[in-house]
Amino acid sequence: MTWEELSNICNNCNRCALSQTRQHVVLGKGDLSAPILFVGEGPGANEDEQGIPFVGQAGKLLDLALESLGFKPDEYYIANVVKCRPPSNRVPHSDEINACLPYLREQFKLIKPRIVVCLGSVAATTLLGPECKITAVRGQWIDKKGTYFTATYHPAALLRDESKKIVMWQDLKAVKRKLAEISK
Ligand code: URA
Repeated sequence: MTWEELSNICNNCNRCALSQTRQHVVLGKGDLSAPILFVGEGPGANEDEQGIPFVGQAGKLLDLALESLGFKPDEYYIANVVKCRPPSNRVPHSDEINACLPYLREQFKLIKPRIVVCLGSVAATTLLGPECKITAVRGQWIDKKGTYFTATYHPAALLRDESKKIVMWQDLKAVKRKLAEISK
């Protein structure tokens, strides 16, 4: 499948109820062959309005973290577990996640990332298993057939609890180090 085909399929998707309330499908943003894939939870109101992930307050915080730590724009792509906004920003239901996962799998196939960073528990438990809460997997690397998976707090959690900022910064520094290590 090409990016164009994937984008067309997603834009016409009605596999779950989220399609009925969305304004835009939010597929992703960033470099299409980046070594790092960040995976969030799902679009919020701003993302739904603009069709672009992480453009609201949480996104600004993520941008700031990535820029200040020296991540280059061609080093990452950002997607979400679900591509349509859950009403009132509720957590996506498992049937919605399951309906949408094939699209994330296609994104994996197209990008072929070397590193996957789960942002928050929904991404971590979806991609790594139900026991993989953030506190259990942050700071660790899970090697899945040569792709290294890790997790850190969702940037929205940092807006609620400032003390998590330092932890996320440390986690992202570890991502930078891992990228340097595997790029040797
Ligand atoms: N939160 C997410 O998980 N994804 C977005 O795109 C925006 C906020």
